[in-house]
Formats: sequence, structure tokens, C-alpha cells
Amino acid sequence: MGYKIAEVASKRGHIVTLISGPTSLMPPKVKRFIAIETADALSKTLKKEIKAADCLIMCAAVGDFRPRHLAAKKIKRQRNLLLKLMPNKDILKELSIYKKDRLFIGFSLETEGILRNSLRKLNSKHLDLIVANKLTKRCNPFGCNKLDVILVDKSIHRTYITNKSKIYITHVLLDKIEEMWYLKNNRGTRIRRIRS
Ligand code: CTP
Repeated sequence: MGYKIAEVASKRGHIVTLISGPTSLMPPKVKRFIAIETADALSKTLKKEIKAADCLIMCAAVGDFRPRHLAAKKIKRQRNLLLKLMPNKDILKELSIYKKDRLFIGFSLETEGILRNSLRKLNSKHLDLIVANKLTKRCNPFGCNKLDVILVDKSIHRTYITNKSKIYITHVLLDKIEEMWYLKNNRGTRIRRIRS
């Protein structure tokens, strides 16, 4: 989804920096491509890059936990294996101090309570819009191209999109972001009347 958004946004004339973890996909043509490997590296890179950006679209599926210790050697077969995990930082939440006039868009993946949980994330992460994805057997954002999503903005306005491709969803999302940007930056602009 991130690659599609970056590709379409670039084609629409936006200057895109794509920060990506490892994937087998061919990166789209964008202004800058930054490869990272860990949640920590994503967080550090974002803190640097966000200062030059107008909008952050955060669709990385960041793991909530990471192993407490990294094994220096291969872990040999054993009857049971207990891995100690530690929580990753909530990157979006931490970035909210840089938000200011920027638009922040998040994604959420839910198996139940999709609207309730996505609204909680919209508020707690200080987002302008969240793309709520429902994970079902028919509809799995990891792999399937046709998805069901709900776009929910800060005023709780909802746009339901059912069984549509990632490219279709990307266009609706970018239309919405461009509209929000326009409204935000032209609020209070008065139409000057020219007297003859
Ligand atoms: N996210 C993040 N840092 C994390 C986890 C998630 O910045 N450590 C971002 C994701 O990129 C996404 C949004 O937060 O834009 C919501 O992610 P999601 O995995 O749906 O929710 P979580 O906040 O991880 O909460 P939960 O797993 O309890 O649903």
C-alpha cells in the first residue's frame, strides 16, 4: 500500500520521500527513497525527515514488540523455545510533537471493533485521518489487492470503500488529503472585491 501511495502521489506531482523496510517489491520512482531495517531506524529517520514535509502518511505495519536479545549465532532446535520480547515505541504518537501544521495520516488494522478502535487511534495519535482496514479471511491487506476500508477524519466523517483495489483506495485517499490541505491553508482567505 505504501509503495502504491508513493507512486501515485509522485505521479500527481507531489515530492515524495519513501521510507521503506525490506520488501521484494520494486520501489516506485520517487524523489527520495530511504531504506531502513528496524522500527528504531524508522523512528530516527522520520524524526529527521518530517521537518521538511507537509504530510506524513504512515502505513508501516510496525511490530508492537521486538526480541529483547539478538542471538549472535543460529538458535538450534529445541523442544520449546521461549523468546523474551520488549515493546517497540509508538512511532506515530512520539512524532506528534513535530505535527504543527502538518497533516498526519495513520492506518489501522483490526479484526473487531474496527470503528471504535480506529477512532481511539485517530485521537490518541493526534491524526487528521485514519484508514481503517478490516482483516478477514476474504480481505487481508497483506497480499490481497481488493480491500474494504473506512477513511475516518477528525470530524468523524466516514468514507466507506468496499472491495476496491489498492490503487483505487490510494486515489480516494490522496483526493481527501489534498482537499484537507487546501481547506486548512485557505481558511480565512477572503475573496477581495474589486471596486471599479
Ligand atoms: N504505528 C506506529 N508505531 C508502532 C505501531 C504502529 O507508528 N509501534 C502506527 C502504524 O504505522 C499505523 C498506526 O500506528 O499508522 C496504527 O497501527 P496499528 O498496528 O493498527 O495499531 P497499534 O497502535 O499498534 O495498536 P494495536 O496493535 O493495539 O491495534
